[in-house]
Amino acid sequence: MLFKVSPSLVLFVICWALATAQQTKLQAIECPFPEGQDVASETECGKYTACEWTNGRCHVVDAHIGGYQVVGDPVDTGRGFRVNLQKIDPNVTMFGGDIINLIFEAIYHEAYHVQIKIYDADNARYEVPVPINLPASAEPNPLYTVGVSGNGDTFHFNVTRNSNGRTMFRSMGPLTFEDQFLQFHTWLSSTYLYGFGENTHTSFRHVFEPRTTFPIFARDQPVGTEQMNEYGQHPYYMVVEDDEGNSHSVLLYTSNAMEYSTFLLDDGTPALTLRTIGGIIDIHVFLGPTPEETNVQYATMMGYPAFPPYWSLGFHLSRWGYNSTTGVREARERMKAMGIPQDVQTMDIDYMYRQRDFTYDPTNWADMPDLIQELHNDNLRVTLILDPALVIDFDNYPPAQRGKDADVFIKWSDKALVPADQEPGTDDYMVGYVWPDNKTIFPDFLNPDAQAWWINELKLFHDILAYDSIWIDMNEPANFGTNLDKPWNWPPELEPWSLKCPDNALDSPPYPTKMIRVGDNNSNKISDHTICMSANQTDGTTTYLHYDVHSLYGWSETVATFQGLLEIFPGTRPVVLSRSTFPGSGQYAVHWLGDNSADWEHMHMSIVGMLDFNMFGLPMVGADVCGFFNEPDMEMCARWMELGAFYPFSRNHNTLGMQDQDPGVWPEVGAISRDTLLLRYKYLPFLYSLFHKAHMHGNSVVRPLLNVFPNDLTARDVDDQFFWGSSLMIAPVITQGATSRDVYFPEGLWYELRYGVLTATGPITQTVNAPMEFIPLFIRGGAILPWQEPAENTELSKMNAYGLTMALDATGTASGEIFWDGGDGEHVMSEAYMSHLNFAANALNMTIMHGETAVSGLNLETISIYGYPSDPTTITVNGDATGVSWFFDNVIKVLEVYLNVPLSQNFIINFN
Ligand SMILES: *[C@@H]1O[C@H](CO)[C@@H](O)[C@H](O)[C@H]1NC(C)=O
Ligand SMILES: *[C@@H]1O[C@H](CO)[C@@H](O)[C@H](O)[C@H]1NC(C)=O
Ligand SMILES: *[C@@H]1O[C@H](CO)[C@@H](O)[C@H](O)[C@H]1NC(C)=O
Ligand SMILES: *[C@@H]1O[C@H](CO)[C@@H](O)[C@H](O)[C@H]1NC(C)=O
Ligand SMILES: *[C@@H]1O[C@H](CO)[C@@H](O)[C@H](O)[C@H]1NC(C)=O
Ligand SMILES: *[C@@H]1O[C@H](CO)[C@@H](O)[C@H](O)[C@H]1NC(C)=O
Ligand SMILES: *[C@@H]1O[C@H](CO)[C@@H](O)[C@H](O)[C@H]1NC(C)=O
Repeated sequence: MLFKVSPSLVLFVICWALATAQQTKLQAIECPFPEGQDVASETECGKYTACEWTNGRCHVVDAHIGGYQVVGDPVDTGRGFRVNLQKIDPNVTMFGGDIINLIFEAIYHEAYHVQIKIYDADNARYEVPVPINLPASAEPNPLYTVGVSGNGDTFHFNVTRNSNGRTMFRSMGPLTFEDQFLQFHTWLSSTYLYGFGENTHTSFRHVFEPRTTFPIFARDQPVGTEQMNEYGQHPYYMVVEDDEGNSHSVLLYTSNAMEYSTFLLDDGTPALTLRTIGGIIDIHVFLGPTPEETNVQYATMMGYPAFPPYWSLGFHLSRWGYNSTTGVREARERMKAMGIPQDVQTMDIDYMYRQRDFTYDPTNWADMPDLIQELHNDNLRVTLILDPALVIDFDNYPPAQRGKDADVFIKWSDKALVPADQEPGTDDYMVGYVWPDNKTIFPDFLNPDAQAWWINELKLFHDILAYDSIWIDMNEPANFGTNLDKPWNWPPELEPWSLKCPDNALDSPPYPTKMIRVGDNNSNKISDHTICMSANQTDGTTTYLHYDVHSLYGWSETVATFQGLLEIFPGTRPVVLSRSTFPGSGQYAVHWLGDNSADWEHMHMSIVGMLDFNMFGLPMVGADVCGFFNEPDMEMCARWMELGAFYPFSRNHNTLGMQDQDPGVWPEVGAISRDTLLLRYKYLPFLYSLFHKAHMHGNSVVRPLLNVFPNDLTARDVDDQFFWGSSLMIAPVITQGATSRDVYFPEGLWYELRYGVLTATGPITQTVNAPMEFIPLFIRGGAILPWQEPAENTELSKMNAYGLTMALDATGTASGEIFWDGGDGEHVMSEAYMSHLNFAANALNMTIMHGETAVSGLNLETISIYGYPSDPTTITVNGDATGVSWFFDNVIKVLEVYLNVPLSQNFIINFN
């Protein structure tokens, strides 16, 4: 049996002995004040029966007063066990509405994965409807044990790692389970805590001192350094438990508004408080034990990331405020004139007619079809933006009328809430205001009828403008001026109006979380910047409250858009760029980190955000290069183009009213961008193979140093460097005026990527030169990176000759692989090319695993070996020296070999 029942007598004595210590500890578990901790006082604290005031702090009462007790013995479910819980004192409450009878259930999945559910024993409550992948039956020999207190005891539970008996999850203090307030606390095995989002973190590792609280709930909230909820919801974290690097990760599977607090108990123990305002408690624990394995395990459940088509790994140029086809053409000409690589041209809402989806402006964008044709002739792809909100001008706007005919828009949850001034024809739809000059309604993308309608609109639109990919913005969903006098952009000639949410339990919940106190919290309601929570949505079978499914809006729009693009471009890989995401979005979405500013700190935070989203199973991620708001100067844009050349999703974008900031604007930035992007394009075969691994196994693409070196304590705090995979380390300059920077090199040999100089033998921190045009890049000894001669776009570069950059480790060996499958289309393993490369004992051995026809016509023409000891006397390919030449640089110990070998045949190259 996997559960443990307390042998009560012995434990009683221990518990009694621990009771005093725990009393002190619990003081640090704060009581929740909707207005924030500033209002905490003895009087305010006294209003909560579940709280008490000690030593100037308002903290929760002990679990045996405020919590639940176990009633009865655990019941084996065949997939784990279940036990009944009962509220010890129904009169002890935070906000009322306590659920008296609960069920605690441990559900065993893979050996590395256990699920814990705590739910109402008597009434069904909302559970996240996003599908997840679970094994058909529990795997044998689990790596974990779930412990729960025995019959009659105060409820606690824990999850321990069997290999070393250490606890990963251990509940502390009372469990609170009220209709609109769920709260629990866990002890953490260390302060090496990472993840949670979408929040812009100023560091990858979380802060425990002072206590730090972030809300999570999808909101149109620009990037900032405040503790704010932003565009998506990712209640997922990872903890490195010990010096060896054992790690586990946890998903709190909720879409309700929530918050998390990190803090230290009085005795220094790190702790985490989790609060949500609806649904149930549904936790998934993944046991790794390495950080990278937790990524893989999490992605296995939530769905492996989409495999991006090769072209989408090229550079994307965008802005809001091209204002006309001329603006786009001018930017494009600057790129061409300076030879800066580009694969995608993106257009923001200014291309639309009065900012209406599925239209284009007949005045300034009249020749948009021609522009798209020109871009296509240049081998570029075109991305167009769409917003979810549609104008209510049904008579003059067929997409809205067709939507109304199919009844696809979000409705008020109660007809009595429909405002008296509701426009004729808008029925009981919830009406708001966004970009267009008329009120808007919001499609319910959970609804299959809405999905079908949207897909049809995408098709009709593609007949008008031959776009290649779709950018879905404003899908939190964003609404302007909610609860205010009027939206900021409301037409001045009209009577003030805005969407106003009722004062009911959904829109003014007893504990609205910290979100009402952060960011642009204009009305201090959870509906700020969005629509009211008092709305109903449906998946065709079940009715959901917007209150519960709000954070799924972006996810559901992504799924519908992906499906639409699949129908428009059968047999290809859709590219959907989404602002709002949820666990599972990675299967469909590319993500950018939202509305940042031209600010050096935002540049740093973009690295942290990228690392976070690689944990969240969304590896195709990047930030707006050179900043969305404000004007970057030349130096900042140059440095940001250097960093952005190593974002998986590399796009320069800015906002209306700013100067153009495309890299061709400044000659210096243009030259730097060309060189750095050519380097990106050169190593795209490597980046692409990382995406293939992500898609097949759930690996991250961009990695923090700690994933590659889990037992290196220094590496755990490094977040201004990152890896592509585990062998290319990027150390960008993100400091104004710097011409050098300190780089942390973990264990091993590190060579400068471009020239092959052995720079460091780690572990060591070293200062490296980084003049303006130079981004420090290092290849790790032991790696072989495939590359291809770069070109101005991937249509050209993917036909070019291959090369290898080989960096020898201390034993003179290296290994790597080459992957290629044409770059688009359905991924068929047997047709895709994969070869393994192994260098040892002065021989490079390439063995093809499958798919040699995919590389017919592609040859390997250059091999650069870093750290090669001496000039060879002969080099033969499959025993033949014909056609092979080389150059050895004895100073830096680099051997450059020139040859011409088809990738479609195994080979052995001997160096003697
Ligand atoms: C809860 O409070 C009510 C009224 O204040 C009281 O009658 C009842 O006994 C209390 N219940 C418990 C379990 O203390
Ligand atoms: C886990 O919980 C069980 C049951 O309450 C208890 O016996 C055990 O000591 C706990 N383990 C840890 C490490 O807290
Ligand atoms: C806004 O939509 C209404 C229909 O509800 C229409 O009567 C009105 O003319 C529209 N106004 C503008 C400025 O398009
Ligand atoms: C909205 O959904 C709630 C919860 O399912 C339901 O009770 C209510 O009747 C629905 N309202 C309407 C107008 O359908
Ligand atoms: C957000 O809330 C905080 C705390 O109530 C307040 O100080 C701040 O002014 C608010 N910000 C806005 C933009 O309303
Ligand atoms: C585009 O139009 C906006 C709004 O009219 C204006 O502020 C901006 O300066 C224009 N941009 C350019 C590049 O002309
Ligand atoms: C080359 O590698 C393959 C696969 O690992 C192996 O079977 C083969 O023996 C190797 N050849 C030599 C000469 O080492």
